[in-house]
Amino acid sequence: MNRRTTRTTGTTRTTRTTVLLAAIALASGAALTGCSSDGSADEPRLKVSGAFMPQPVMDMAGGFLTIENDSDTADKLTSVTSPLSDDVEIHETKDQKMREVKSFDIPAKGELKLVRGGNHIMFMNIKQKPKQGEKVSIELHFEKSGPIKVDLPVEAATHNPKQH
Ligand code: CU
Repeated sequence: MNRRTTRTTGTTRTTRTTVLLAAIALASGAALTGCSSDGSADEPRLKVSGAFMPQPVMDMAGGFLTIENDSDTADKLTSVTSPLSDDVEIHETKDQKMREVKSFDIPAKGELKLVRGGNHIMFMNIKQKPKQGEKVSIELHFEKSGPIKVDLPVEAATHNPKQH
């Protein structure tokens, strides 16, 4: 507590800084109990699986995948980028209509599922139509985690894997 006495700024400000520091210490402590071996302990651990793109029939395309979060820290999918389109959006589907959203939640110890008829990635004005058997590379961007690169295998236009 020597630091506090040597500081010349106002008391209110010093107290506020201390509270903030305490909050940060608490947060990282909580994350550490969840994962002691990982260096980036306060980062959500995300795993992507089941990614695919149905072969597009028009100048837009959909992307589907599952993001698992194995950590105690929630995250958000905030954007997607791809060489296939300069305008990749994330959409939700409500009452069979889709609309753009700012982000999707990825709950702690949970998952985000992008499925046909539900939440999805939407590639607008695609630069070419990839064919079944090809791959489309994308990069997922998150609120907290670093970006993740994923290759979407292009499947038949009607492809719709069973959800379990
Ligand atoms: Cu859409």
